[in-house]
Amino acid sequence: MLRLSRRTLLKASAGLGLYGAGLGAASLLDARAQAATPIRLQARQTDALLNGQQLTRGVMTYAVDDGASDPMPPTLRMKRGEAFDATFTNHLDEPTTVHWHGLRIDNRMDGVPFLTQPYIYTGDSFDYRFTPPDAGTYWYHPHCNTLTQMGRGMTGLIIVENPDDPVFDAEIALNLRDWRLGGDGQFIEQFKPRDAARTGTFGTVRGANWQVEPRYTAPAGGLVRLRIVATDVTRIYTLKLQGALAMIIALDGQPLPTPTPFDTAMIAPGQRLDLLLRMPDEDGATVSLLDIRPSAPKTVASFAALGSTLKRDLQDVKALPQNPWTAPDLSSAEEIPLVLSATAENAARDSICGTLGYSFWAINKVPWPGDTSDPSAPLAELKLGKTYIFNLTNNTPHAHPIHLHGMNFQVIASNLRSAPPLISDTYLVLPDEKVQLALVADNIGDWVLHCHVIEHQKTGMTAYIRVT
Ligand code: C2O
Ligand code: CU
Repeated sequence: MLRLSRRTLLKASAGLGLYGAGLGAASLLDARAQAATPIRLQARQTDALLNGQQLTRGVMTYAVDDGASDPMPPTLRMKRGEAFDATFTNHLDEPTTVHWHGLRIDNRMDGVPFLTQPYIYTGDSFDYRFTPPDAGTYWYHPHCNTLTQMGRGMTGLIIVENPDDPVFDAEIALNLRDWRLGGDGQFIEQFKPRDAARTGTFGTVRGANWQVEPRYTAPAGGLVRLRIVATDVTRIYTLKLQGALAMIIALDGQPLPTPTPFDTAMIAPGQRLDLLLRMPDEDGATVSLLDIRPSAPKTVASFAALGSTLKRDLQDVKALPQNPWTAPDLSSAEEIPLVLSATAENAARDSICGTLGYSFWAINKVPWPGDTSDPSAPLAELKLGKTYIFNLTNNTPHAHPIHLHGMNFQVIASNLRSAPPLISDTYLVLPDEKVQLALVADNIGDWVLHCHVIEHQKTGMTAYIRVT
């Protein structure tokens, strides 16, 4: 049986002479990824070609000093268990912060204004230093004026490597997001209130890696690790592959104990899907990644097979090594209600981090007042080391990707689906779904939880829990 070690890959690719250490299409992305720290990360404004036709002005993005000219935020590479160190400087005209979505790190590094750190004003810097405990696919984005800052570009990928990860023939990471652009390629209003009170306001141009329907190549007959991250502010994707078979190897950064065949998968803002894709044997054959809902299927990206076949076998794929995890002790768990509903009360207070001026949503009947020095009381106070079960009830006719900072939870039971025992930081709760999420409160601090449809987050669907 083929084991995907670095050695077999070197052997396999030697005869081919094409792919160096077995990495084909990966090189493009990897060249831009970060290997060593400390790095200097900055937020800045730029112009970029987002719709493939006209330069869009007023794009907001991240950059590192590596001379790369690609305007997309760089993919940051970290190593599990190794310190990451970034000096972040804000070159925007407004305050910002950086949140590291899905990383279970020290609360002071979590990037939530007032709750965990002060704003980083124009020209100011902040040192983000932490050690990611888990390997996998994650991402980073601001937690200040998020609809504008993320809507205009500030969503970047994080890859946390595990030295024990198998090596594949190629790796391709996809940053999925839409843009709200007018016919002239310039930004239009980021949201419409009537849509914010429903599913959220969709973009007008769909993209991956800041391109419309990008095309990649990968070794024919090779195994490709596809890291897909939904960083859009609104869109829930229903993904399907055409032209190849694939296995799901991780969800939301966490390896599946057993890889499962991929048919379709829904991934909502904040969520990640890691696939192992077996490229076709024939040189030039193309695989398409499609978004099949809600409208006619739309190509997200495509992958062309290149060279003579490597003849890999999908069945040989083994599970990725698991991340550390303390299983919840359900027998001693305390239950916490978490009810999502619509509201019209208490329009958000004005805030330096932006308010949309509306209140449409609430958690346990309380609409979040916005980022303020005087936030509401925590939704719950948790004791370090104890197990809790969130009884999450969705009393709205819309789906909400609920994201918790700083800790992972395990899905225990749902009234609508047979709940696989997934470990995650973001759960897409469906209309009228009731789901139980269990966790061990293993990280001290104030941690926000919110819907990752940013218009919902910013119009009330946010709260926080306190672990002491
Ligand atoms: Cu990616 Cu508070 O979120
Ligand atoms: Cu929502």
